[in-house]
Amino acid sequence: METKIESLRIEALSAIAEASDANTLKEARVRFLGKTGSVSLLSEGMRSLSKEERPIIGKLLNELRAAVTLALDTKESTLSAAADAAALSAIDSTLPGTAPEVGSLHPLTLLADRAVQIFRRLGFAIADGPDIETEWHCFDALNTPADHPARNEQDTFYLPDGRLLRTHTSSIQIRTMVANPPPIRIIAPGAAYRRDEVDATHLAQFTQMEGLYVAPHVSLADLKGTIEFFFYELFGSGTEIRFRPHFFPFTEPSYEIDIRTEALGGKWMELAGCGMVDPAVFEEVSKLRSDSAYDPEKVSGFAFGFGLDRLAMNLTGISDIRMLTENDLRFLSRFTA
Ligand code: PHE
Repeated sequence: METKIESLRIEALSAIAEASDANTLKEARVRFLGKTGSVSLLSEGMRSLSKEERPIIGKLLNELRAAVTLALDTKESTLSAAADAAALSAIDSTLPGTAPEVGSLHPLTLLADRAVQIFRRLGFAIADGPDIETEWHCFDALNTPADHPARNEQDTFYLPDGRLLRTHTSSIQIRTMVANPPPIRIIAPGAAYRRDEVDATHLAQFTQMEGLYVAPHVSLADLKGTIEFFFYELFGSGTEIRFRPHFFPFTEPSYEIDIRTEALGGKWMELAGCGMVDPAVFEEVSKLRSDSAYDPEKVSGFAFGFGLDRLAMNLTGISDIRMLTENDLRFLSRFTA
């Protein structure tokens, strides 16, 4: 038995050493270690051995199996390293590679970033809120009653559970005040949604930037100064700015902001809504907070909301608003810095 084991060892190790490719090696593995391989067959011979011989031969067989396994594994990694090297030798690593496609920021992101930078210098922080909103955050808390046309199903995307795609970023005003006591000074860029016939100047999704400032003694002069500073920074101090009286349920008084600048083609353009936060909004927020942090006798505030899409279109010369959401790389690559 011992001699059989020894000669099998020699046979196996030399077969493994001679194997020159992965297939031959696989065959050798089956031939020696497989269920009906030579090592297994030899092990079956154990049964006819005496009690004294068994442990000695068993040990030798184990050693044989371990030695053959090791030889097979070693040879396998040698062969696969050689195959890798052969494959790589066909590649000239000194040739120039294919340049990766470099992406860039979307024109709306670029504009929002610029706007945020300007407001940051005035101490405004970024705030955020969900695109899928409750009716309360989007309307009720903003003093917009149930019969208001903005709440109509023809104007707003409702989900089966009664929530909706926010129709404006003003819901972020509410979320911010509910979660934080005054003073508040936030800016919040984000998407808003309305049911609109989609054409070159209308989309069902657009981008707004909300602003809110609440503290003791905030005045209309603060609102005007802030808006003027922003547009002078964005378009230069020659920019003309007009505050037109308007109505929003959640601000009183309310205005629409028009600006005229050569950068936007020299025509008056309506860009934003704004106003002083209506005390009714503070009262709604206070109900949910159940404290008096937003007592309208103690604090006042202003809010504004810009539409970013038309601004981005005018600044970059885009004539069709749909280009902003189609994400056609041929279009977007024009803005690669
Ligand atoms: N949410 C208003 C709109 O979408 C804009 C606005 C924001 C007006 C804040 C006043 C104050 O038209």
